[in-house]
Amino acid sequence: MKILVIGSGGREHALVWKLAQSPRVTKLYCAPGNAGISQQATCVPIAVDDLTGLQKFAEDERIDLTVVGPEAPLALGIADLFRRNKLKVFGPTKNAARIESSKAFAKDLMIRQQIPTAESRTFESVSAAIQYLDSRPVPIVVKADGLAQGKGVVVAHTHEEAKEAVLNMLERHAFGEAGQRVIIEECIQGEEITLMAFADGKTVIPMLAAQDHKRVGDGDTGPNTGGMGAYAPAPLAIPALRYAIMREVLYPAIEGLARVGSPFFGVIYAGVMVKDGVPYVLEFNARFGDPETQVVLPLLKTDLVDVLEAVVEHRLEQLDIEWSEEAAVCVVMSSGGYPGKYPTGVPIAGLPDSISSDSVPVFHAGTAWKDDQIVTSGGRVLGVTAVSSNLAQARSKAYDTVQTINFDGQYYRNDIASRVLP
Ligand code: AMP
Ligand code: GLY
Repeated sequence: MKILVIGSGGREHALVWKLAQSPRVTKLYCAPGNAGISQQATCVPIAVDDLTGLQKFAEDERIDLTVVGPEAPLALGIADLFRRNKLKVFGPTKNAARIESSKAFAKDLMIRQQIPTAESRTFESVSAAIQYLDSRPVPIVVKADGLAQGKGVVVAHTHEEAKEAVLNMLERHAFGEAGQRVIIEECIQGEEITLMAFADGKTVIPMLAAQDHKRVGDGDTGPNTGGMGAYAPAPLAIPALRYAIMREVLYPAIEGLARVGSPFFGVIYAGVMVKDGVPYVLEFNARFGDPETQVVLPLLKTDLVDVLEAVVEHRLEQLDIEWSEEAAVCVVMSSGGYPGKYPTGVPIAGLPDSISSDSVPVFHAGTAWKDDQIVTSGGRVLGVTAVSSNLAQARSKAYDTVQTINFDGQYYRNDIASRVLP
């Protein structure tokens, strides 16, 4: 089978690496990919939002299956376009992807389906938003309605901070169109967990639960990022909790989407805050999480091609998905300054040879080739991942590898997985 993966981050490197292990795959392409991905797939310079360029490539190369990594092409309707043209594609339609591309749509779905979530209101007017804020206790959460690369959420500890966030979004247009509407939401204190599941419109099969580390600083301090590290399986997600998330969140969401004529095919991602055993949904995503995928896929024992194909062909119920008993930890190494401004083009030294190692490679995110050398090209640069028989060992293996890698201005959190480990 010829497979095309769309995207250029650590998540897509993990997808490419996993797909490369399948005996069913004869040729792998990635658009546009990155330096690490280019060692395992043929990278083609087509942007993720160039839908017609991607369609033409898939037709010309007779791609058997296209796997969409990021949210942007899904929100633009890549899955609709490919399906209309009889191209097999793994990912939800534009309408179903609204669970991620519009927080207001997701909230309506949750209310209709009685999915536990924080109480919230949506505003387009600054004065109405501020009047509402004044009537609510802090901490309080302000969210841009649309896609903002994980950065459109402010957990405000004072009314001043919350008002600033509202002004930034509605008046100063800090997130462009994504911030034309804001959601103001009750702050829920608890333990955060990610549960992703494969869904074929009807059947839903969960993956292992993972935990992301969204804040930039140790001890969960500083601004939110796209994710600074992850581990799986999350010990908090005992079977009873996974079952509760399936029953109270994922099944009702999939059923609710089917009911409004937008059946969901792909990966549904529930980011939940667990408080007193109840999983409150903070966000849905319509795709694999990043960096959760970097720790979940290394633990998947079933051939990923079989799983993706079963979703695309709506026969997930016939599939048994098997997982390893091991644990995985991913430490993200980022450019100094991220999630704010950062330099690029910085040479990276000490990268292990990803082709010669048969264990999990260092997943590349913001990397590029420059004159035969791998340099930084983004905020999140590498996802150093290790698998071992338990979380503590996986963590020390990952940090051992981090020590061997070096680039000017490099930054990483020192406490990935530490909350659940001594
Ligand atoms: P989101 O992109 O909606 O997942 O939000 C990013 C992060 O902000 C989440 O991972 C949480 O850490 C935090 N967050 C979002 N909504 C809430 C909430 N209602 N209560 C507490 N924290 C939240
Ligand atoms: N890890 C958060 C996300 O993928 O959106």
